[in-house]
Amino acid sequence: RTSQLVDKFGRTVSYIRLSVTDRCDFRCTYCMAEEMTFLPRQQVLSLEECLRLARVFVDLGVTKIRITGGEPLVRKNVLWLFQQLGRLEGLKELVLTTNGSQLERFARPLVEAGVRRVNVSLDSLDPDKFKRITRVGDLNKVLRGIAAAKEAGFAGIKLNTVMIRGVNDDEFCDLVQFAVDHEIDIAFIEEMPLGDVGHSRLHTYYSSDDALALLESRFELVSSTETTGGPARYWRIPGTRTKVGFISPHSHNFCAACNRVRITCTGELFPCLGQNDSTNLLPLLRAHPDDDQPVRQAIIDAMGIKPRGHDFNLFQAKPKVIRFMSVTGG
Ligand code: GTP
Ligand code: 5AD
Ligand code: SF4
Repeated sequence: RTSQLVDKFGRTVSYIRLSVTDRCDFRCTYCMAEEMTFLPRQQVLSLEECLRLARVFVDLGVTKIRITGGEPLVRKNVLWLFQQLGRLEGLKELVLTTNGSQLERFARPLVEAGVRRVNVSLDSLDPDKFKRITRVGDLNKVLRGIAAAKEAGFAGIKLNTVMIRGVNDDEFCDLVQFAVDHEIDIAFIEEMPLGDVGHSRLHTYYSSDDALALLESRFELVSSTETTGGPARYWRIPGTRTKVGFISPHSHNFCAACNRVRITCTGELFPCLGQNDSTNLLPLLRAHPDDDQPVRQAIIDAMGIKPRGHDFNLFQAKPKVIRFMSVTGG
């Protein structure tokens, strides 16, 4: 069965990124402002509403759901949602993006619920630097979470490293070595200007090509055509189980192959991470508790406003998209 969700550029949407909370127990400097207020409970989708939306999307032909946040694992009772989603007929891939802080506790039940792969943010292996980047995060807790994920038997684990010039660019090789040692994958991400975090992303910009050249000084990297269905381009390190990905919104635009939309925890559908267009599904869900047709139609209609692509501009003083990454879930 193919997805019924096709946009006006002919791209088929088969992947949704569903954010279950705007809250996070970290305060990463590229993602959040120092002072953040979080949304009041009644504006946030209930877990039942999340499940209902997921069902409608799967019914429309979506085959992959990634749960995001904020930090999804700080949402109360979130395991229930994973367990329900894991049973959805027609859903081929249930996956998660997390900061890893709660993984030690959640890894095993997540695998049992049917979560196939997990992506864990890891920007530094130095505890002090890790604390500077996350403002409050505890590196050791995350490392224990990654170990637990390894133990729990996910089909795939990928580290996500946001490249921050002058902050963690001295660690790219060590991070890859860490991935190699743990037989997991890693993706390097060019920072995107989402939300006013109080600094310009221009000064800390580090391109994927520069990172690739840097890594090639220590590793043999062989480009690969494989994909995980996301925006990363991958390279293999022969003799290891690790693939190294690059997510390059600035230097290698991937919008032409976009197959995804995101839903915020307030039930807003954003057809593009890097644009402001959106459709609010929450009122439809709440006005029609027993009828999925209105929300289903709104989702189909939203394909008509999916933009051709982002137009992130690192030279702009203030980001054009003012919502924070923690609101849209990446
Ligand atoms: P898989 O390929 O399934 O492993 O996932 P992914 O890499 O798409 O998801 P993840 O949540 O790990 O996201 C990694 C980075 O890619 C984050 O910084 C996301 O914001 C970014 N990303 C994911 N999808 C898009 C997209 O459609 N557009 C843009 N600009 N960035 C995206
Ligand atoms: N640009 C790029 N990546 C970001 N992330 C959070 N904020 C940004 C940003 N502004 C990353 C997180 C996480 C993933 C979902 O997105 O580190 O790994
Ligand atoms: Fe798709 Fe928008 Fe992401 Fe581009 S920026 S890949 S159009 S969601």
